[in-house]
Amino acid sequence: MLFSLGLICVALIIFLYKYVFGNSGPNPFETDTREPLREMVHDRKEKNKVLKQGFLASKVPTDLDAVIIGSGIGGLGLAVLLAKVGKKVLVLEQHDRAGGCCHTFTEKGFEFDVGIHYIGELLDHKPFRCMLDSMTNGQLQWEPLDNPFDQVVIGPPENRRRYPIYSGRTRFPEELKKCFPGEEKAIDEYMRLVKRVGRGIWFLAVLKLCPAPLAKFLVYTGLVRRLSSFFEMAPRSLTEVVNGLTENKDLRAVFAYIFGTYGNMPKEASFAMHSLLTTHYLNGAWYPKGGASEIAYHMIPIIESAGGAVLVRAPVNRILFNKANEACGVSVMKGQEEVHIHAPMVISNAGIFNTYQKLLPKELQAMPTIQKQLSMMKNGEGGLSVFVGLNGTKEELGLKADNYWIFTETNFDELVENYMNGTREESAKSIPLLFVASPSAKDPTWEERSPGKSTLSLVSFANYTWFEEWKDGKVTNRGEDYKDLKQTFINTALDVVLENFPKITRDKVEYIDAGTPLTNTYYIGAPKGEIYGADHGIARFDPEVCMTVRPQTPLKNLYLTGQDVFLCGFAGALAGALTCGSVILNRNLHLDAIGLAKKIKFINAKLKDE
Ligand SMILES: Cc1cc2nc3c(=O)[nH]c(=O)nc-3n(C[C@H](O)[C@H](O)[C@H](O)COP(=O)(O)OP(=O)(O)OC[C@H]3O[C@@H](n4cnc5c(N)ncnc54)[C@H](O)[C@@H]3O)c2cc1C
Ligand SMILES: *[C@@H]1O[C@H](CO)[C@@H](O)[C@H](O)[C@H]1NC(C)=O
Ligand SMILES: *[C@@H]1O[C@H](CO)[C@@H](O)[C@H](O)[C@H]1NC(C)=O
Ligand SMILES: *[C@@H]1O[C@H](CO)[C@@H](O)[C@H](O)[C@H]1NC(C)=O
Repeated sequence: MLFSLGLICVALIIFLYKYVFGNSGPNPFETDTREPLREMVHDRKEKNKVLKQGFLASKVPTDLDAVIIGSGIGGLGLAVLLAKVGKKVLVLEQHDRAGGCCHTFTEKGFEFDVGIHYIGELLDHKPFRCMLDSMTNGQLQWEPLDNPFDQVVIGPPENRRRYPIYSGRTRFPEELKKCFPGEEKAIDEYMRLVKRVGRGIWFLAVLKLCPAPLAKFLVYTGLVRRLSSFFEMAPRSLTEVVNGLTENKDLRAVFAYIFGTYGNMPKEASFAMHSLLTTHYLNGAWYPKGGASEIAYHMIPIIESAGGAVLVRAPVNRILFNKANEACGVSVMKGQEEVHIHAPMVISNAGIFNTYQKLLPKELQAMPTIQKQLSMMKNGEGGLSVFVGLNGTKEELGLKADNYWIFTETNFDELVENYMNGTREESAKSIPLLFVASPSAKDPTWEERSPGKSTLSLVSFANYTWFEEWKDGKVTNRGEDYKDLKQTFINTALDVVLENFPKITRDKVEYIDAGTPLTNTYYIGAPKGEIYGADHGIARFDPEVCMTVRPQTPLKNLYLTGQDVFLCGFAGALAGALTCGSVILNRNLHLDAIGLAKKIKFINAKLKDE
């Protein structure tokens, strides 16, 4: 016993020394790089000069330090971190604009965003906020949502219950208690659990960053589960935990509703992932002022100022390897021709399945270490989005800066299972869970940009197999049957909206269209139309899986960033970038971000004193 304790201590000390104090690379968060706020640019043509720089071989900078495949927050974020320490990085994006899930598009004069509805942890001077301020030189601004920020709506029209969800560590439980008198104990216990488990997340970064032998030691001795509340609770399902807390079906549902933000029905969801998302919004929820495209718009110039570039319409068709099987560049399809780009380091933001199954030569794909990683992950659920353009201001339409999570009943497991496993014709006629939000109502610059108009974003899940037969069709012309099926989903979703928002009427709808899993494949490169990348079910949180799928791949000079290497969500994918950057720069960037926050707090306190 004493011996093993000693062993643990030695191991931890080595780890702490090397990965906490023994930093050797430069620190991208060394100084506060915020600059005075410049005037916002709304002109789309101006913004496109930054966001839509088309690929040309002549635009590729010479002497690159790294090339990154994909311009999601995982790719752009990493490029910024590397640029901040002077590295020349090329980001290549297959779509015609940069941003991945953070891109926006405009139809009939309505601007829509794709994958950014609300983000937590952005209180002033908190590490995540300081980090993002630093990564955009202080130009990206965040607008808080209303409080309550979420509305959980359950049941048929004649028996509809609505539960407002407030942020605030004390307000969240207090308000729940008002809705559920007599359930105080269950609510307190739920709070205690999610906070304890959420706090243990740091150990996920440890498993992905520490040397493989140490990670194995921590995992195979079972120490991980003892040292981290996150891993201790990871094997337990959300259904199991919540059912143990209360008999009240509505309260169980309210505890569980946020499973939509990572995509696994409660009986398949890990309570660890659930705790993380619940605590993510405890201090509030924010939306990027000016819309999601502001994120890439303010990151790209930082990459460029170090000599790098972000080029779009640049589909990478394979990664190049030298004779020793070390990654040495990528090949981009320009029309029918391959353009080869060489760099000492290749980092993929395209997700684990694209990277290993599509971009590696067959013989490397067959490597047991690669196959092992692939067997540990599975494709996540497909996404369904409906984009609605409305004639009317937010006041006229009764829209607020919040989100609705609308469910037909409380038995989420059954609802999702029946829906996802149903035939497409049946499922399209009844969508049991629907997220409804108005991006335009969240953005204070909207009224100036699009006076008298509003938008809605509706999101749900969809089974990839419903649409698979059209996967080889042309993007805007997949045929009448596809259109009809899409239209059925649209009609069903719109009915839900009309029922829940009395001020919205059919004649206000100026534009409506849907994105299916195939749409996700085309625009964000999701191989099976995934909404959140690889699946986040319980298996993903097995410590062995967590330590095996890490930024370093089995192939030298090839790295992974983004949501598949850490977790989904804007914050999760950015944590993927931070983790990948830590490996590349050989220092712990998570701690560096915390260090920057402390520094800024200290300076602010001093300024106040003076
Ligand atoms: C509908 C929806 C709603 C969401 N809502 C929220 C929310 O409210 N809050 C939140 O925090 N998160 C939300 N998310 C999740 C979040 O947006 C994502 O988890 C995160 O942005 C993923 O970032 P990423 O960089 O890992 O991947 P992505 O943003 O998917 O980027 C990957 C990029 O790689 C590119 N690519 C792929 N293959 C190639 C190739 N061969 N060559 C070149 N480029 C390639 C793709 O085109 C894509 O641009 C939402 C997601 C969706 C889809
Ligand atoms: C929008 O609504 C206003 C009145 O509310 C109407 O005058 C106008 O014609 C409508 N515009 C469109 C494009 O329907
Ligand atoms: C899905 O449906 C099929 C047949 O309709 C059934 O056999 C199967 O058990 C269902 N699977 C799940 C997970 O519900
Ligand atoms: C999607 O549909 C296929 C085929 O009907 C089925 O096998 C699969 O289980 C479904 N997926 C989910 C998540 O239910």
